[in-house]
Amino acid sequence: MVEWFLWLKAIHIVSVVAWMAGLFYLPRLFVYHCDVSPGSEASELFKTMERRLTGVIMRPAMVMSLLSGVLLLIAGQIELFQIWVLGKLAAVFLLLLYYGALEVYLRQFARDQRTRNARFFRVINEVPTLLLIIIVVFVVVKPFQ
Ligand code: HEM
Repeated sequence: MVEWFLWLKAIHIVSVVAWMAGLFYLPRLFVYHCDVSPGSEASELFKTMERRLTGVIMRPAMVMSLLSGVLLLIAGQIELFQIWVLGKLAAVFLLLLYYGALEVYLRQFARDQRTRNARFFRVINEVPTLLLIIIVVFVVVKPFQ
């Protein structure tokens, strides 16, 4: 059972690393995409990169992160009502909201709609860093246990 739990945790960590890599990279693509004109060759190239990053890496990695996370809770018979679990899940929920917002901007760029400027995407690019620190501290240090 323990070995199975550790394999699951390994899959979990690989999935969240892949998802986080996309959460850091996609807003960077949006920063550069803001600086090229709609309909240009460069803009079409950024659309392809953004579509592949989300379709091939981010969405599958997000689903695997959530699925393996829930399976870890069940397999580990981990009590849900603990501060570290609730704190981690709250931060994961904010990360999901953040990813949802990136999906909205992805669709806008695909339609050559520009509702935000490069500075906006540079600023929001710090959000996943902050949430990652909170998630890792909760799950590794397990404070207030
Ligand atoms: C629904 C979402 C998630 C659930 C239910 C969940 C649940 C869990 C559980 C139960 C563990 C095992 C804890 C232990 O062995 O003590 C774990 C480990 C871990 N989780 Fe998640 N997780 C989720 C999403 C995430 C996300 C989004 C990240 C990072 C961005 C993350 C990062 C980690 C890390 C780094 C570990 C390994 C901790 C260690 O080895 O001590 N998890 N997760």
